[in-house]
Amino acid sequence: MAHEEMTRSPLIDVQNLTQKIGPQEILRGVDLSIYAGETLVLLGKSGGGKSVFLRHLIGLMKPVEGRILFEGQDIAQLNERQLEPIRRKIGMLFQDGALFDSLNVFDNVAFPLREHRQRNEKEIRDKVYESLSLVNMSGHEDKMPVNLSGGMRKRVALARAIISPPSVILYDEPTAGLDPIVSDSINKLIRHLQKQLQVTSVVVTHDMVSTNHVGDRVALLDRGKIHFWGSLQELASSTDPVVRNFVEGRSDENNDIE
Ligand SMILES: Nc1ncnc2c1ncn2[C@@H]1O[C@H](COP(=O)(O)OP(=O)(O)OP(=O)(O)O)[C@@H](O)[C@H]1O
Ligand SMILES: [Mg+2]
Repeated sequence: MAHEEMTRSPLIDVQNLTQKIGPQEILRGVDLSIYAGETLVLLGKSGGGKSVFLRHLIGLMKPVEGRILFEGQDIAQLNERQLEPIRRKIGMLFQDGALFDSLNVFDNVAFPLREHRQRNEKEIRDKVYESLSLVNMSGHEDKMPVNLSGGMRKRVALARAIISPPSVILYDEPTAGLDPIVSDSINKLIRHLQKQLQVTSVVVTHDMVSTNHVGDRVALLDRGKIHFWGSLQELASSTDPVVRNFVEGRSDENNDIE
């Protein structure tokens, strides 16, 4: 990303985000800025709070402390009705797909269009087919979610998230559980959405191949804080032991299973 872009104010600015669930401190003052048009990859170990973090960005969880500024407005202060226009700008790919079990693939993908009161069935059909084709899921329109594999569910959820391209897309583990070829096509799709539609993205992942493919900047969440953030080159050349262990997939003996 060019230097002059970094001097603009961030599209999303998370400041001192703190979250506790019961006695557990999950986020302990996360500071993270996301700039328009970039793809930020968020790394961190399993159970570290990445999904919890993403839920705050669309107002599904309220921070115990801190602010989440979206275009300068603190969304933590907004009620459900006030959140609506912001949520319309943000597409979210949930980690588990979160498809509607009672709707087939076609109707799941068409859902956001119908929800936004688009009534032209021919247009809906064209868009659904195009979106499914982008995720290599053409021909599965009539299947019910229960009859799909985990990876297929994820791709249908992605087709639904991008059907009316939002200005921000939050991806929670977009390539987890997918074979390398489908993963590669998802990575290309994330890049395509960024390049063609100037989408701003946050990609939560464990997948270093995907990180290197889609990331402009990378942040590592560790023990409830952003332990590292920087470019892919800075990640690759970092000598910080926590960063190295994560990038090289080594378990840290002093801090194995929590
Ligand atoms: N609704 C909830 N109720 C209670 N605890 C929760 C809830 N959601 C998350 N947690 C806890 O918060 C912590 C962080 O969970 P989170 O799902 O954000 O981790 P993650 O970094 O996304 O992990 P993974 O990489 O495995 O998806 C975990 O200890 C989890 O048990
Ligand atoms: Mg998660």
